[in-house]
Order: sequence, then C-alpha cells, then structure tokens
Amino acid sequence: MQLLTKAPRGTQDILPKDSYKWQFIENIMLNQAELFGFSEIRTPVFEHTELFSRSVGEDTDVVQKEMYTFNDKGGRSITLRPEGTAGAVRAMLEHGLYNESLPVKMSYITLCYRYEKPQSGRWREFTQFGVEMFGASSAAADAEVICLAKTLFDRLGLSNISLEINSIGCPKCRAKYYEALKKYFEGYKSELCETCLSRLDRNPMRILDCKSLICSKIAENAPAVLDFICADCKEHFEKLKEYLDAVSIEYTVNPKIVRGLDYYTRTVFEFVSKDKNTLGLVCGGGGRYDGLVEELGGKPTPALGFGLGIGRILLAMESQGIEIPKTNVCDVYIASIGDAASLFAFNLTRLLRESSFIAEYDTIGRGLKAQMKYADKIGAKFTLVLGDDEIASKKAKIKNMKTGDLLEINLDKNFLTEFFKIHAEAENEKIFKNFSQK
Ligand code: HAM
Repeated sequence: MQLLTKAPRGTQDILPKDSYKWQFIENIMLNQAELFGFSEIRTPVFEHTELFSRSVGEDTDVVQKEMYTFNDKGGRSITLRPEGTAGAVRAMLEHGLYNESLPVKMSYITLCYRYEKPQSGRWREFTQFGVEMFGASSAAADAEVICLAKTLFDRLGLSNISLEINSIGCPKCRAKYYEALKKYFEGYKSELCETCLSRLDRNPMRILDCKSLICSKIAENAPAVLDFICADCKEHFEKLKEYLDAVSIEYTVNPKIVRGLDYYTRTVFEFVSKDKNTLGLVCGGGGRYDGLVEELGGKPTPALGFGLGIGRILLAMESQGIEIPKTNVCDVYIASIGDAASLFAFNLTRLLRESSFIAEYDTIGRGLKAQMKYADKIGAKFTLVLGDDEIASKKAKIKNMKTGDLLEINLDKNFLTEFFKIHAEAENEKIFKNFSQK
C-alpha cells in the first residue's frame, strides 16, 4: 500500500502552494533568454538510447551508471533524457534548422532523469533550464552565453555565485593531455575503482570526475588540461577573458573543471555557490561542444550552451532569504448566503475573471463564518458578502482584509469600474508603503 502514497526516491512533488516559485524562476529564464534572441524548443522526454551514449559518451558516469533505460513494447532501447543538449542537437538536425540564418539559438525547460544517489540538491528527476547556440565559433559567442547565465542569477537576486571557467582544448591538443593523464594514473592502477580502470586507456579524462573517494583524491594532483592546450585554443580562451573583462563579469580560472559529459571542447564553465548553506553546489554549467553535431551525423558545426538546475537555484535563493513574489493571491472572495446569492456570486466571479482578477466563491455550501475563515486562509485581498438584501438593493460592502476598511460597492454596471479603483488604490498604498520603507 505504501507504494501508492509514496513518490519514488529522488523525485519531488511541487505542491500548489509552492508552484509559483518555480513559475517565477522559469518565466525569468525564458524571458531573459528571449532578450538574447533565444526561442523555446520542446523535445521528447525520451529518445533512442544511442543518442545519449554517442553524445554524452560511453565512458561517462551518466551513461555507465545513471541512465533510465528500458526496452519499449516494440523492443527498441529507449532512455529518459539525462540532459537537454543531445535532444536539442537531434531536433536541430532532424528539422534542418542549420539551413536557417545562423546562429540557431534555442532555450528549454525540461525534466531530466539520472539514477544518482539522492541528497540535498540532487534528485533523480530534476528540471533543467538550458540554452544552445549553433553556428558560432567565436569567443564572443562564449561570452554571450556566459553573460546570459550570469544575467539570470542577477535577475533572481542571487549573490555569492562564482563563475569558474576553463579550457579543455580541442581533440588535437587533447591527445598530448591524455598521454600525460595515462602516465599519471598508471602509477595508481591498484587503487583506482573498476570503472576508472576501464577508462584508463580509452578516456582517462573521465577519471577526473569519478565520485569515488579514492579516485577523486588521486585525481587532485593529476596534470591540468590548461597546461596542454594548443595555441589556437589558448588564443580563444584569452579572447573570452577579454570579453568577460569588458563587461566586468567576474570569473576565476579553475583548471580542474573538465565537466562530466564527453562532448565538450575548448571553453567550459560552472556557476558554483559560495554561500555557507549551499557551499559548493553547482547551480549550472556548460561550454562549447564543437564536435557533437558532426558526431551525430551533421556537418561540422560549432556549438555551445549551458544548463542550470532549477531546484538547485531555488535552494540557493531560499538559503539566501530571497523572497519570491506571490502572484496568485485571490483578489476577491465573494461570500454568499442562500441560493440566489450563490448564483449572483458565480456570475460576479466570472465577470471579475474576464478582467483578469483572481476571484473565488463558495462551492462547498458552507455557512458564512466558514466562508470568511476560508477567505482569510487563502489570503484574499478583499471579501464581499452577498445575501438577499444586497441583491435587492444592488449594493454590498467590500472589505479590505488587510486594513479592515469597509467600502460600499454597486452591484450594477458600475461594479467592475468601482472594483478596479478600490483594488488599484489598495495596491498603490502597498507599493508606496514598501517604497517608503526602503
Ligand atoms: P550538467 O552539468 O550535467 O550539464 O547539468 C547542468 C546542471 O543541471 C547542473 O549544473 C546542475 O545544476 C543540474 N543538475 C545536474 N544533475 C542534477 C541532479 N541530479 N539533481 C539536480 N540538479 C542537477 C548538462 O546537463 C549539459 N547538457 C549542459 C549544457 C548545455 N552544456 C552545453 N549545453
């Protein structure tokens, strides 16, 4: 029976009382992305497994340990998406978006699935906001994408989030780095975990983000990729720094960042919380992946993007005491006594909603006292009580629930105009009060 009333481990319910917080963050993200010229793409929550193993990489933790993979009834191997980039690239190729004017710029909010050990800020089902840009190889494009991510944190009021950047080079310069890494890790062969042992020959860079305690300790002193990048990659990285400096975006170069996915080339970056309650939480990350489009069958196309965990961002906002404005508060609750008043209330709420006010009336058949208690509980800004007298006289009293003020309102064709005025004056009062307290 417990299975029926308990959600699977690592998932979370976002209850009606909290959903406004997610909507607030998601709206800011999509709107800001739009200001940078990104438009939303929606791709399926599941794709062919091969798409992820080819793009994210066979040797990554995500593919080796964390994917939700199953055979569908037709015997095809299907995977719930562990991240947003692969699906975006697949859709770009399938619909020939590269034939449109470049760069192609897309944003998304998607549910992702990774079979990880759940802990604070880490879920098995989580929401990612991301952007992808195709067709731009310049460092200016890297700066543009980083600038967008930084703007999102700023717009949400988040501080103490540091930007860390690195360059992991191109396939050309990486060969030398792989050699150095192999040499280093071979000295610790007897201590590495089994997965890392299998990575040693094929993809030694993946050992750097192994979550096992011993491997990560060994990895601490491994050679840094930044010391091995070629002149072109170096120039690209220097140019990026120039762009970031030009708009005073602060960053630190962290030569340890390699990212957990195989598709990255050149620039990689992460936004890490420095706040004491969420110290070290990686709120977002991304970078360039100039080889991925070709890997998936397209023409060579430079590309880049980032992904942010919305749940992690909410955690960071809560730990910094950032209040998210509640936009779904009931503007007016219409209480009624008797059948005729209930019908009248039903009609008035319709009228109010047509003018975009949040309006409610009693649908349970409660007495007046219970209705008022409910109005109080939901935080209604105004209440209006309707009975036979009010309907006969076409006048009622409207109560400002915050101040207790009672005003008369006409229940005729002037109702909406009068309500607009009463509502606007109360809002104005509130805004002015907040303003003068600052
Ligand atoms: P990622 O670093 O694997 O990159 O994930 C991006 C963000 O998703 C992380 O920084 C983190 O905030 C959030 N995240 C990851 N795993 C979890 C989890 N288990 N629970 C909660 N949040 C999580 C990517 O996925 C790339 N596709 C980003 C990208 C886009 N690179 C280029 N374009």
